[in-house]
Amino acid sequence: MTGKPLTILGIETSCDETAAAVVRGSAPGPGEILSNVVFSQIEAHAPYGGVVPEIASRAHLEILDNIVDRALAEAKISLSELDGIAVTAGPGLIGGVMVGLTTAKALALGTGKPLVAVNHLMGHALTARLTHGVEFPFVLLLVSGGHCQLVGVGGIHDFRLYGSTIDDAVGEAFDKTAKILGLPYPGGPAVEAAARNGNPRAYELPRPMKGRAGADFSFSGLKTALRQLAETDISVEDASASFQAAVIDILRDRTRIAMQMFRKDFPEGNTLVVAGGVAANQAIGAGLNRLCADEDFTALIPPPRLCTDNAAMIAWAGVERLSAGGAGDALSTSPRARWPLAETTA
Ligand code: KG4
Ligand code: ZN
Repeated sequence: MTGKPLTILGIETSCDETAAAVVRGSAPGPGEILSNVVFSQIEAHAPYGGVVPEIASRAHLEILDNIVDRALAEAKISLSELDGIAVTAGPGLIGGVMVGLTTAKALALGTGKPLVAVNHLMGHALTARLTHGVEFPFVLLLVSGGHCQLVGVGGIHDFRLYGSTIDDAVGEAFDKTAKILGLPYPGGPAVEAAARNGNPRAYELPRPMKGRAGADFSFSGLKTALRQLAETDISVEDASASFQAAVIDILRDRTRIAMQMFRKDFPEGNTLVVAGGVAANQAIGAGLNRLCADEDFTALIPPPRLCTDNAAMIAWAGVERLSAGGAGDALSTSPRARWPLAETTA
């Protein structure tokens, strides 16, 4: 299906990034990113070692109009030239989601353009189509600060959950590890940098769920082991490297099982897409590439700037929904704190 290219404004405010972007294209992609403005609130949350919801929603409210104006200006697109307005309607921190959704509704009402209420996870899931025009089906490993799941993606309304975390998300495990080791927030990039100078075999850490049936994840045992280890005299670099090696081992094991489940659903499929903030980790990417070589899969990892939260992926989800013939969503659409990807399955 290659229809007329659509030009969509995307808005993302579900966590600690205030973002707006303009994307043009049609399914299956790739699309053209005309602008991609991301304002990170990291500095506002850093003193607390994590995202504070009240601070986040106030910051979104203060800056979102400005970010939207910048995205339109950089794209050299006026509101009247848009084909629709896509916005994250969940899942996420409800205050922030409300700010974005309300702004998008006002823009849709004012311009008469369709509103597309996007599931944030769908945004991450479809990013590899925006960047590489990846065809369905594919296995999605979604690894971010709030999410950790393996999904079979057969289409924009066909998401099959193979496994998810029973406790922490992998990004959360990186953030907590950084805190334990005295590294700065956000923890992922800091742990990855420290790990580069460490020995991944220095300390023996557990690999929870490894070898178990099903593709679920668990990271809390790893975090507890690390906390105990940190009470002794350790090298932060070696501990970071050992932690990261355990994570890679777990991700590879769980993804291999999900590939087996996927082959039963889609015998013709052989693509693994990695998405979410943790996909920016190069050691994890290399580990997954090796797994794909063993399993006859091709790994596709969008560039880091599109792996972490952004509005281009939300605009692209809007392109996909509208190019599939959707009319958009009602202006009465409610924000959702919880919204499993599988619930967007038609
Ligand atoms: O997708 P994202 O920007 O926001 C959520 O929707 O959660 O992901 C943020 C998460 C944080 O937990 C951060 O520590 C992690 O992604 N992250 C990384 C790296 N860069 C970001 N984790 C490991 N290695 C990285 N290089
Ligand atoms: Zn995200």
